[in-house]
Amino acid sequence: MARTFDVVVLGAGAAGMMCAVRAGQRGRSVLVIDHAKAPGEKIRISGGGRCNFTNIHTTAKNYISANPHFAKSALARYTPRDFVDLVERHNIAWHEKTLGQLFCDNSAKDIIAMLLGEMKAVGVQLELQSQVTVVEKTPGGFRVGTSNGPVEAASVVVATGGKSIPKMGATGFAYDLARQFGLKIIKTRPALVPLTLDPNLLEKLSPLSGIGVPAEVRHGKTAFREALLFTHRGLSGPSILQISSYWREGDEITVVIEPDTRIAELLKTARKANGRQAAQTVLGEALPKRLAQFFVENGSVNRHLADLSDRTVEALAASIQNWKIRPAGSEGYRTAEVTLGGVDTNELDSKTMQAKAVPGLYFIGECVDVTGWLGGYNFQWAWASGHVCGEAL
Ligand code: FDA
Repeated sequence: MARTFDVVVLGAGAAGMMCAVRAGQRGRSVLVIDHAKAPGEKIRISGGGRCNFTNIHTTAKNYISANPHFAKSALARYTPRDFVDLVERHNIAWHEKTLGQLFCDNSAKDIIAMLLGEMKAVGVQLELQSQVTVVEKTPGGFRVGTSNGPVEAASVVVATGGKSIPKMGATGFAYDLARQFGLKIIKTRPALVPLTLDPNLLEKLSPLSGIGVPAEVRHGKTAFREALLFTHRGLSGPSILQISSYWREGDEITVVIEPDTRIAELLKTARKANGRQAAQTVLGEALPKRLAQFFVENGSVNRHLADLSDRTVEALAASIQNWKIRPAGSEGYRTAEVTLGGVDTNELDSKTMQAKAVPGLYFIGECVDVTGWLGGYNFQWAWASGHVCGEAL
Protein backbone atom coordinates (compact mmCIF):
# COMPACT_ATOMS: atom_id res chain seq x y z
CA MET A 1 0.00 0.00 0.00
CA ALA A 2 1.36 3.39 -0.95
CA ARG A 3 1.48 6.12 1.69
CA THR A 4 -0.47 9.19 0.63
CA PHE A 5 0.38 12.89 1.02
CA ASP A 6 -0.85 16.11 -0.54
CA VAL A 7 2.70 16.98 -1.56
CA VAL A 8 5.95 15.08 -2.03
CA VAL A 9 9.05 17.27 -2.20
CA LEU A 10 12.11 15.63 -3.75
CA GLY A 11 15.26 17.14 -2.20
CA ALA A 12 15.76 18.48 1.35
CA GLY A 13 17.97 21.38 0.30
CA ALA A 14 17.34 25.09 0.64
CA ALA A 15 14.47 25.29 -1.86
CA GLY A 16 12.81 22.01 -0.90
CA MET A 17 12.74 22.76 2.82
CA MET A 18 11.42 26.29 2.29
CA CYS A 19 8.68 24.97 0.01
CA ALA A 20 7.73 22.24 2.50
CA VAL A 21 7.45 24.79 5.33
CA ARG A 22 5.10 27.04 3.35
CA ALA A 23 2.94 24.15 2.11
CA GLY A 24 2.80 22.73 5.66
CA GLN A 25 1.79 26.12 7.06
CA ARG A 26 -1.07 26.11 4.57
CA GLY A 27 -2.34 22.81 5.98
CA ARG A 28 -0.95 20.45 3.36
CA SER A 29 0.42 17.06 4.36
CA VAL A 30 4.00 17.06 3.10
CA LEU A 31 6.73 14.43 2.76
CA VAL A 32 10.28 15.53 1.92
CA ILE A 33 12.54 12.83 0.49
CA ASP A 34 16.33 13.06 0.15
CA HIS A 35 18.95 10.45 -0.68
CA ALA A 36 21.55 12.11 1.54
CA LYS A 37 22.24 11.28 5.18
CA ALA A 38 21.49 14.83 6.33
CA PRO A 39 19.31 17.68 5.03
CA GLY A 40 20.73 20.96 3.72
CA GLU A 41 24.28 19.78 3.21
CA LYS A 42 25.07 22.65 0.83
CA ILE A 43 23.72 25.13 3.35
CA ARG A 44 26.06 23.62 5.93
CA ILE A 45 29.21 24.14 3.85
CA SER A 46 28.13 27.44 2.30
CA GLY A 47 29.80 30.77 2.94
CA GLY A 48 32.79 29.11 4.58
CA GLY A 49 30.45 27.50 7.16
CA ARG A 50 28.58 30.73 7.91
CA CYS A 51 26.09 30.66 4.99
CA ASN A 52 25.76 33.81 2.94
CA PHE A 53 22.00 33.33 3.15
CA THR A 54 20.83 36.33 1.13
CA ASN A 55 21.84 39.59 -0.48
CA ILE A 56 19.95 42.74 0.42
CA HIS A 57 20.51 44.17 -3.09
CA THR A 58 18.83 41.24 -4.87
CA THR A 59 17.08 42.03 -8.16
CA ALA A 60 16.45 39.89 -11.23
CA LYS A 61 19.54 41.56 -12.77
CA ASN A 62 21.72 39.44 -10.46
CA TYR A 63 20.65 36.25 -12.23
CA ILE A 64 21.51 34.57 -15.52
CA SER A 65 18.65 32.91 -17.38
CA ALA A 66 17.49 32.47 -20.97
CA ASN A 67 14.50 34.53 -19.79
CA PRO A 68 15.86 37.36 -17.59
CA HIS A 69 12.31 38.33 -16.53
CA PHE A 70 11.28 34.93 -15.17
CA ALA A 71 12.71 35.35 -11.65
CA LYS A 72 11.05 38.75 -11.06
CA SER A 73 7.73 37.46 -9.77
CA ALA A 74 9.08 35.07 -7.13
CA LEU A 75 11.82 37.50 -6.04
CA ALA A 76 9.22 40.24 -5.56
CA ARG A 77 6.90 38.00 -3.54
CA TYR A 78 9.59 36.67 -1.20
CA THR A 79 12.29 39.24 -0.59
CA PRO A 80 15.59 39.24 1.32
CA ARG A 81 13.71 41.16 4.07
CA ASP A 82 11.23 38.28 4.38
CA PHE A 83 14.08 35.83 4.93
CA VAL A 84 15.85 38.15 7.38
CA ASP A 85 12.56 38.39 9.35
CA LEU A 86 12.48 34.59 9.55
CA VAL A 87 16.13 34.46 10.66
CA GLU A 88 15.44 37.09 13.33
CA ARG A 89 12.35 35.27 14.60
CA HIS A 90 14.73 32.38 15.30
CA ASN A 91 17.19 34.68 17.07
CA ILE A 92 19.96 33.88 14.61
CA ALA A 93 22.54 36.65 14.76
CA TRP A 94 23.78 37.88 11.37
CA HIS A 95 26.03 40.51 9.86
CA GLU A 96 26.61 42.17 6.49
CA LYS A 97 30.06 41.25 5.24
CA THR A 98 30.39 43.23 2.03
CA LEU A 99 28.31 44.21 -1.02
CA GLY A 100 25.00 43.45 0.74
CA GLN A 101 25.99 39.88 1.59
CA LEU A 102 24.38 38.64 4.83
CA PHE A 103 26.07 35.86 6.83
CA CYS A 104 25.32 34.04 10.10
CA ASP A 105 27.49 35.28 12.95
CA ASN A 106 27.74 31.78 14.32
CA SER A 107 27.16 28.86 11.94
CA ALA A 108 25.32 27.83 8.78
CA LYS A 109 23.92 25.00 10.87
CA ASP A 110 21.64 27.60 12.51
CA ILE A 111 19.86 28.04 9.17
CA ILE A 112 19.37 24.28 8.78
CA ALA A 113 18.06 24.01 12.36
CA MET A 114 15.69 26.91 11.65
CA LEU A 115 14.24 25.24 8.57
CA LEU A 116 13.94 21.86 10.29
CA GLY A 117 12.22 23.57 13.25
CA GLU A 118 9.74 25.27 10.91
CA MET A 119 9.07 21.96 9.13
CA LYS A 120 8.48 20.15 12.40
CA ALA A 121 6.14 22.87 13.67
CA VAL A 122 3.77 22.23 10.77
CA GLY A 123 4.11 18.44 10.69
CA VAL A 124 6.26 18.04 7.56
CA GLN A 125 7.76 14.54 7.41
CA LEU A 126 11.38 14.12 6.36
CA GLU A 127 12.74 10.88 4.95
CA LEU A 128 16.50 10.72 4.48
CA GLN A 129 18.70 8.13 2.72
CA SER A 130 15.77 7.34 0.48
CA GLN A 131 16.35 6.68 -3.21
CA VAL A 132 13.71 7.79 -5.70
CA THR A 133 13.36 5.06 -8.29
CA VAL A 134 10.47 6.31 -10.41
CA VAL A 135 7.96 9.16 -10.70
CA GLU A 136 4.79 8.33 -12.64
CA LYS A 137 1.64 10.28 -13.44
CA THR A 138 -1.57 8.75 -12.11
CA PRO A 139 -5.17 9.89 -12.61
CA GLY A 140 -5.11 11.60 -9.17
CA GLY A 141 -1.58 12.97 -9.24
CA PHE A 142 1.70 11.09 -9.01
CA ARG A 143 3.16 7.86 -7.73
CA VAL A 144 6.75 8.08 -6.50
CA GLY A 145 8.70 4.86 -6.11
CA THR A 146 11.32 5.04 -3.36
CA SER A 147 13.66 2.63 -1.60
CA ASN A 148 11.28 3.00 1.39
CA GLY A 149 8.24 2.00 -0.64
CA PRO A 150 5.82 3.83 -2.92
CA VAL A 151 4.24 7.19 -2.10
CA GLU A 152 1.27 8.89 -3.75
CA ALA A 153 0.63 12.62 -3.87
CA ALA A 154 -1.44 15.17 -5.77
CA SER A 155 1.69 17.29 -6.30
CA VAL A 156 5.39 16.54 -6.73
CA VAL A 157 7.97 19.28 -6.24
CA VAL A 158 11.40 18.67 -7.72
CA ALA A 159 14.05 20.44 -5.61
CA THR A 160 17.05 18.19 -6.18
CA GLY A 161 19.41 21.02 -7.16
CA GLY A 162 22.07 21.04 -9.87
CA LYS A 163 25.12 18.96 -10.72
CA SER A 164 27.69 20.91 -8.70
CA ILE A 165 29.83 18.91 -6.27
CA PRO A 166 28.82 15.33 -7.12
CA LYS A 167 30.84 14.18 -4.09
CA MET A 168 28.11 15.76 -1.95
CA GLY A 169 25.34 13.83 -3.69
CA ALA A 170 24.51 16.27 -6.50
CA THR A 171 22.82 14.52 -9.42
CA GLY A 172 21.21 15.39 -12.72
CA PHE A 173 17.98 13.90 -11.37
CA ALA A 174 15.83 17.02 -11.90
CA TYR A 175 16.89 17.31 -15.54
CA ASP A 176 16.22 13.62 -16.21
CA LEU A 177 12.78 13.90 -14.63
CA ALA A 178 11.98 17.06 -16.59
CA ARG A 179 12.96 15.28 -19.82
CA GLN A 180 10.84 12.27 -18.85
CA PHE A 181 7.83 14.61 -18.77
CA GLY A 182 8.82 16.20 -22.10
CA LEU A 183 10.12 19.48 -20.66
CA LYS A 184 13.02 21.27 -22.35
CA ILE A 185 16.37 21.78 -20.62
CA ILE A 186 18.70 24.71 -21.21
CA LYS A 187 22.16 23.17 -21.56
CA THR A 188 23.89 22.96 -18.19
CA ARG A 189 27.48 23.94 -17.35
CA PRO A 190 29.52 24.56 -14.19
CA ALA A 191 29.35 28.16 -12.92
CA LEU A 192 30.92 30.17 -10.09
CA VAL A 193 33.97 28.02 -10.67
CA PRO A 194 37.76 28.62 -10.74
CA LEU A 195 39.29 28.89 -14.22
CA THR A 196 42.29 26.84 -15.31
CA LEU A 197 45.24 27.84 -17.51
CA ASP A 198 47.24 26.02 -20.16
CA PRO A 199 50.45 24.41 -18.86
CA ASN A 200 52.77 27.10 -20.33
CA LEU A 201 50.93 30.02 -18.76
CA LEU A 202 50.43 28.09 -15.54
CA GLU A 203 54.16 27.49 -15.25
CA LYS A 204 54.87 31.14 -15.93
CA LEU A 205 52.38 32.22 -13.23
CA SER A 206 53.38 29.55 -10.72
CA PRO A 207 55.47 32.01 -8.60
CA LEU A 208 52.25 33.97 -8.00
CA SER A 209 50.32 31.06 -6.48
CA GLY A 210 48.64 32.12 -3.22
CA ILE A 211 48.59 35.86 -4.00
CA GLY A 212 45.25 37.68 -3.75
CA VAL A 213 44.70 41.18 -5.17
CA PRO A 214 41.81 43.57 -5.80
CA ALA A 215 40.89 43.28 -9.48
CA GLU A 216 38.32 44.01 -12.10
CA VAL A 217 37.73 41.05 -14.40
CA ARG A 218 35.91 41.61 -17.66
CA HIS A 219 34.26 39.43 -20.28
CA GLY A 220 32.67 41.42 -23.09
CA LYS A 221 30.46 44.02 -21.43
CA THR A 222 30.30 42.17 -18.10
CA ALA A 223 32.71 43.18 -15.35
CA PHE A 224 33.14 42.29 -11.67
CA ARG A 225 35.30 44.22 -9.25
CA GLU A 226 36.28 41.86 -6.43
CA ALA A 227 39.34 39.96 -5.26
CA LEU A 228 41.36 37.73 -7.62
CA LEU A 229 43.41 34.81 -6.39
CA PHE A 230 46.30 33.08 -8.20
CA THR A 231 46.24 29.34 -7.45
CA HIS A 232 48.38 26.35 -8.38
CA ARG A 233 45.67 25.40 -10.91
CA GLY A 234 44.96 28.83 -12.37
CA LEU A 235 42.74 31.71 -11.31
CA SER A 236 40.15 31.92 -8.57
CA GLY A 237 38.69 34.41 -6.08
CA PRO A 238 35.27 36.11 -6.25
CA SER A 239 35.94 38.14 -9.43
CA ILE A 240 36.97 34.99 -11.34
CA LEU A 241 34.08 32.90 -9.98
CA GLN A 242 31.66 35.64 -11.07
CA ILE A 243 33.08 35.97 -14.59
CA SER A 244 33.20 32.16 -14.99
CA SER A 245 29.41 32.19 -15.29
CA TYR A 246 29.76 34.32 -18.45
CA TRP A 247 33.00 32.91 -19.87
CA ARG A 248 32.88 30.23 -22.60
CA GLU A 249 35.63 27.93 -23.88
CA GLY A 250 38.01 29.80 -26.21
CA ASP A 251 37.01 33.26 -24.88
CA GLU A 252 39.45 35.80 -23.52
CA ILE A 253 39.02 37.65 -20.23
CA THR A 254 40.61 40.98 -19.31
CA VAL A 255 42.15 41.39 -15.88
CA VAL A 256 42.70 44.83 -14.37
CA ILE A 257 44.82 44.50 -11.25
CA GLU A 258 44.37 47.22 -8.59
CA PRO A 259 41.65 48.96 -10.64
CA ASP A 260 41.54 51.95 -8.26
CA THR A 261 45.19 52.79 -8.95
CA ARG A 262 46.37 54.29 -12.25
CA ILE A 263 49.62 52.39 -12.56
CA ALA A 264 50.95 54.33 -15.61
CA GLU A 265 50.47 57.66 -13.82
CA LEU A 266 51.94 56.30 -10.62
CA LEU A 267 55.10 55.28 -12.47
CA LYS A 268 55.38 58.54 -14.44
CA THR A 269 54.92 60.66 -11.31
CA ALA A 270 57.54 58.62 -9.46
CA ARG A 271 59.93 58.95 -12.43
CA LYS A 272 59.55 62.71 -12.36
CA ALA A 273 60.15 62.85 -8.60
CA ASN A 274 63.13 60.49 -8.58
CA GLY A 275 64.20 58.73 -11.77
CA ARG A 276 66.79 56.63 -9.94
CA GLN A 277 64.10 54.48 -8.30
CA ALA A 278 63.75 50.96 -9.68
CA ALA A 279 60.44 50.25 -11.46
CA GLN A 280 59.97 47.21 -9.23
CA THR A 281 60.30 49.29 -6.05
CA VAL A 282 57.64 51.76 -7.13
CA LEU A 283 55.30 49.02 -8.38
CA GLY A 284 55.83 47.22 -5.08
CA GLU A 285 54.10 50.13 -3.33
CA ALA A 286 50.90 49.46 -5.31
CA LEU A 287 51.06 45.68 -5.74
CA PRO A 288 52.18 42.72 -3.64
CA LYS A 289 55.99 42.53 -3.97
CA ARG A 290 55.99 39.15 -5.76
CA LEU A 291 53.50 40.48 -8.29
CA ALA A 292 55.57 43.63 -8.90
CA GLN A 293 58.65 41.48 -9.48
CA PHE A 294 56.75 39.23 -11.87
CA PHE A 295 55.49 42.05 -14.10
CA VAL A 296 58.84 43.83 -14.18
CA GLU A 297 60.71 40.64 -15.10
CA ASN A 298 58.06 39.56 -17.54
CA GLY A 299 58.24 42.93 -19.33
CA SER A 300 62.07 42.96 -19.13
CA VAL A 301 61.93 46.41 -17.53
CA ASN A 302 63.93 45.65 -14.41
CA ARG A 303 65.59 49.07 -14.57
CA HIS A 304 65.56 52.58 -13.12
CA LEU A 305 62.47 54.60 -13.98
CA ALA A 306 64.57 57.24 -15.73
CA ASP A 307 65.60 54.59 -18.25
CA LEU A 308 61.99 53.80 -19.20
CA SER A 309 60.29 55.70 -22.02
CA ASP A 310 56.62 56.71 -21.80
CA ARG A 311 55.82 53.88 -24.20
CA THR A 312 57.59 51.34 -22.01
CA VAL A 313 55.85 52.61 -18.89
CA GLU A 314 52.48 52.42 -20.63
CA ALA A 315 53.19 48.89 -21.91
CA LEU A 316 54.18 47.81 -18.39
CA ALA A 317 50.99 49.35 -16.95
CA ALA A 318 48.89 47.68 -19.66
CA SER A 319 50.40 44.31 -18.83
CA ILE A 320 49.02 44.81 -15.30
CA GLN A 321 45.79 46.63 -16.00
CA ASN A 322 44.74 45.40 -19.43
CA TRP A 323 45.91 41.82 -19.07
CA LYS A 324 44.33 39.54 -21.67
CA ILE A 325 44.12 35.94 -20.54
CA ARG A 326 42.59 33.00 -22.41
CA PRO A 327 41.69 30.41 -19.74
CA ALA A 328 42.06 26.78 -20.81
CA GLY A 329 38.93 25.62 -18.98
CA SER A 330 37.29 25.49 -15.59
CA GLU A 331 37.62 23.17 -12.62
CA GLY A 332 34.20 21.78 -13.58
CA TYR A 333 31.39 20.47 -11.41
CA ARG A 334 33.92 19.15 -8.89
CA THR A 335 34.30 22.63 -7.37
CA ALA A 336 31.60 24.73 -9.09
CA GLU A 337 29.25 26.43 -6.62
CA VAL A 338 26.29 26.26 -8.97
CA THR A 339 25.01 24.90 -12.28
CA LEU A 340 24.08 27.23 -15.12
CA GLY A 341 21.10 26.30 -17.27
CA GLY A 342 18.50 23.75 -16.22
CA VAL A 343 14.75 23.37 -16.63
CA ASP A 344 13.71 25.87 -19.32
CA THR A 345 11.70 28.66 -17.65
CA ASN A 346 9.36 28.71 -20.68
CA GLU A 347 8.08 25.39 -19.39
CA LEU A 348 7.16 26.83 -15.95
CA ASP A 349 4.64 29.29 -14.55
CA SER A 350 6.74 32.04 -12.91
CA LYS A 351 4.12 32.62 -10.18
CA THR A 352 3.90 29.01 -8.99
CA MET A 353 6.85 27.16 -10.57
CA GLN A 354 4.40 24.58 -11.92
CA ALA A 355 5.17 22.86 -15.23
CA LYS A 356 2.63 24.35 -17.66
CA ALA A 357 2.19 21.05 -19.48
CA VAL A 358 2.13 18.80 -16.39
CA PRO A 359 -0.30 20.06 -13.72
CA GLY A 360 0.89 19.09 -10.23
CA LEU A 361 4.59 18.91 -11.16
CA TYR A 362 6.81 21.76 -9.90
CA PHE A 363 10.52 22.63 -10.23
CA ILE A 364 12.24 24.99 -7.79
CA GLY A 365 15.72 26.16 -6.80
CA GLU A 366 18.94 25.51 -8.65
CA CYS A 367 17.55 22.93 -11.09
CA VAL A 368 15.66 25.74 -12.84
CA ASP A 369 17.44 27.86 -15.46
CA VAL A 370 17.93 30.76 -13.02
CA THR A 371 21.52 31.12 -11.77
CA GLY A 372 22.60 33.82 -9.37
CA TRP A 373 25.82 35.72 -9.01
CA LEU A 374 28.09 34.95 -6.10
CA GLY A 375 27.00 36.73 -2.90
CA GLY A 376 23.84 35.17 -1.44
CA TYR A 377 21.75 35.44 -4.60
CA ASN A 378 21.49 31.69 -5.15
CA PHE A 379 20.02 31.05 -1.72
CA GLN A 380 17.62 33.97 -2.19
CA TRP A 381 16.41 32.28 -5.39
CA ALA A 382 16.03 28.97 -3.54
CA TRP A 383 13.98 30.63 -0.75
CA ALA A 384 11.86 32.71 -3.15
CA SER A 385 11.08 29.94 -5.65
CA GLY A 386 10.43 27.50 -2.78
CA HIS A 387 8.13 29.93 -1.03
CA VAL A 388 5.96 30.83 -4.04
CA CYS A 389 5.67 27.15 -4.91
CA GLY A 390 4.61 26.34 -1.33
CA GLU A 391 1.98 29.09 -1.60
CA ALA A 392 0.51 27.42 -4.68
CA LEU A 393 0.33 23.86 -3.39
P1 FDA B 1 20.47 21.88 -2.99
O1 FDA B 1 21.64 21.36 -3.73
O2 FDA B 1 20.67 22.75 -1.81
O3 FDA B 1 19.56 20.67 -2.49
C1 FDA B 1 19.26 19.58 -3.31
C2 FDA B 1 18.94 18.40 -2.42
O4 FDA B 1 18.48 17.34 -3.24
C3 FDA B 1 20.16 17.88 -1.68
O5 FDA B 1 19.85 17.72 -0.31
C4 FDA B 1 20.47 16.54 -2.37
O6 FDA B 1 20.98 15.56 -1.47
C5 FDA B 1 19.09 16.14 -2.87
N1 FDA B 1 19.14 15.26 -4.05
C6 FDA B 1 19.86 15.41 -5.17
N2 FDA B 1 19.60 14.40 -6.01
C7 FDA B 1 18.69 13.59 -5.42
C8 FDA B 1 18.03 12.41 -5.80
N3 FDA B 1 18.29 11.82 -6.97
N4 FDA B 1 17.15 11.86 -4.93
C9 FDA B 1 16.91 12.43 -3.71
N5 FDA B 1 17.50 13.56 -3.31
C10 FDA B 1 18.38 14.15 -4.16
N6 FDA B 1 24.75 30.18 -2.42
C11 FDA B 1 24.52 31.33 -1.72
O7 FDA B 1 23.55 32.03 -2.01
N7 FDA B 1 25.37 31.69 -0.71
C12 FDA B 1 26.45 30.95 -0.35
O8 FDA B 1 27.16 31.27 0.62
C13 FDA B 1 26.72 29.78 -1.10
N8 FDA B 1 27.85 29.04 -0.85
C14 FDA B 1 28.05 27.87 -1.53
C15 FDA B 1 29.20 27.12 -1.26
C16 FDA B 1 29.42 25.92 -1.93
C17 FDA B 1 30.69 25.14 -1.65
C18 FDA B 1 28.46 25.45 -2.88
C19 FDA B 1 28.65 24.15 -3.59
C20 FDA B 1 27.34 26.21 -3.17
C21 FDA B 1 27.13 27.43 -2.51
N9 FDA B 1 26.01 28.22 -2.80
C22 FDA B 1 25.81 29.40 -2.11
C23 FDA B 1 24.99 27.79 -3.77
C24 FDA B 1 23.81 27.16 -3.01
O9 FDA B 1 24.30 26.16 -2.14
C25 FDA B 1 22.80 26.53 -3.98
O10 FDA B 1 22.43 27.47 -4.96
C26 FDA B 1 21.56 26.08 -3.23
O11 FDA B 1 21.92 25.12 -2.26
C27 FDA B 1 20.52 25.48 -4.17
O12 FDA B 1 19.44 25.04 -3.40
P2 FDA B 1 18.55 23.82 -3.92
O13 FDA B 1 17.61 23.53 -2.80
O14 FDA B 1 18.01 24.10 -5.26
O15 FDA B 1 19.56 22.61 -4.09
